[in-house]
Amino acid sequence: MRAAQVSKLEGPESVEIVDIPEPKSYPGGVVIDVHAAGVAFPDVLMSRGLYQMKPELPFVVGGEVAGIVREAPADAHVKAGDRVVALTLLGNAMAETAVAPAQMVFPLPDNVSLESGAGILFNDLTVHFCLRNRGRLAAGETVLVHGAAGGIGTSTLRMATALGAGRVIAVVSTEAKAEVARANGATDVVLAEGWLAAVKELTGGRGVDIVLDPVGGDRFTDSVRSLASAGRLLVVGFTAGEIPTVKVNRLLLKNVEVIGAAWGEWVMTHPGYLTEQWAEVAPLLAAGKIAAPEPVLYPLDRAAEAIASLENRTATGKVVVTLR
Ligand SMILES: NC(=O)c1ccc[n+]([C@@H]2O[C@H](COP(=O)([O-])OP(=O)(O)OC[C@H]3O[C@@H](n4cnc5c(N)ncnc54)[C@H](OP(=O)(O)O)[C@@H]3O)[C@@H](O)[C@H]2O)c1
Repeated sequence: MRAAQVSKLEGPESVEIVDIPEPKSYPGGVVIDVHAAGVAFPDVLMSRGLYQMKPELPFVVGGEVAGIVREAPADAHVKAGDRVVALTLLGNAMAETAVAPAQMVFPLPDNVSLESGAGILFNDLTVHFCLRNRGRLAAGETVLVHGAAGGIGTSTLRMATALGAGRVIAVVSTEAKAEVARANGATDVVLAEGWLAAVKELTGGRGVDIVLDPVGGDRFTDSVRSLASAGRLLVVGFTAGEIPTVKVNRLLLKNVEVIGAAWGEWVMTHPGYLTEQWAEVAPLLAAGKIAAPEPVLYPLDRAAEAIASLENRTATGKVVVTLR
């Protein structure tokens, strides 16, 4: 089979298309003919050996697929021929064939294409976990998201209202990204330059209830400042590079919280949680209450470029690599 492989940790440009044997199935494994695979920031980090998970070289990149089941265990909830989305767990996704554990394979609603499907699980379930579980989003609250035109950002824009938010404010670096944020459902969009003052003005000085922050870096302290009383800042990632610190007196003075939100860790330590999440998200996708992502598509031959677009900050929305 053809696959996108990392054999040296020199970044996205060193991702190569190779012909390798198909992966072997295992007890409880579902074999999937992959049509599309999602690209996410951890793929960038893994291609440089900078992610917390460091698979042995060489490895196939990508952690999520959409495709058709070729073979499934007799007692699995999916069967040969089903359209599915699946997590392969950070690696082994950008290949013509993938194997995923049955509990991480889910039927895809008929109204969602396989290309869109490949962009759902990683980001949408992270955002669902952030807003529902860690952020305790209550009906009518205001959510602000940094990096709003990115993968996690556009997921937040597509989902927050369906999960109860009253207003969703997008922070982006450029006017072009502002358009992407609007198209994905932002109620308001502000530019990263001077964003705190703009948000204070938009909220009449009150601030926001939840900040979902996949960016970190030097805007972090302003994110704490942007919270309304009893607000929650969700620490999701550090695409800006720097890992910020917080002076805890700021939390005390305004009755606000800074909360870690690591979806992967939660999934691994809470068996059954993924299934619970899909049971809530899939009907919302099927009913059109959450719009499916409209990913930017790259053929497998251009996987390196697809992954590089996240590193060089030119990616907008979800990026997906197509295999069939
Ligand atoms: N905690 C979890 O469970 C979890 C799960 C999934 C992903 N993540 C993390 O979430 C973060 C975002 O992932 P993603 O897939 O959404 O990435 P993405 O699609 O590349 O979006 C990231 C956004 O970050 C902003 N950004 C600011 N400074 C940047 C820089 N120096 N380089 C690149 N982007 C920069 C960009 O927006 P502007 O240009 O508009 O600023 C960009 O759109 C990553 O750190 C990832 O590891 C965490």
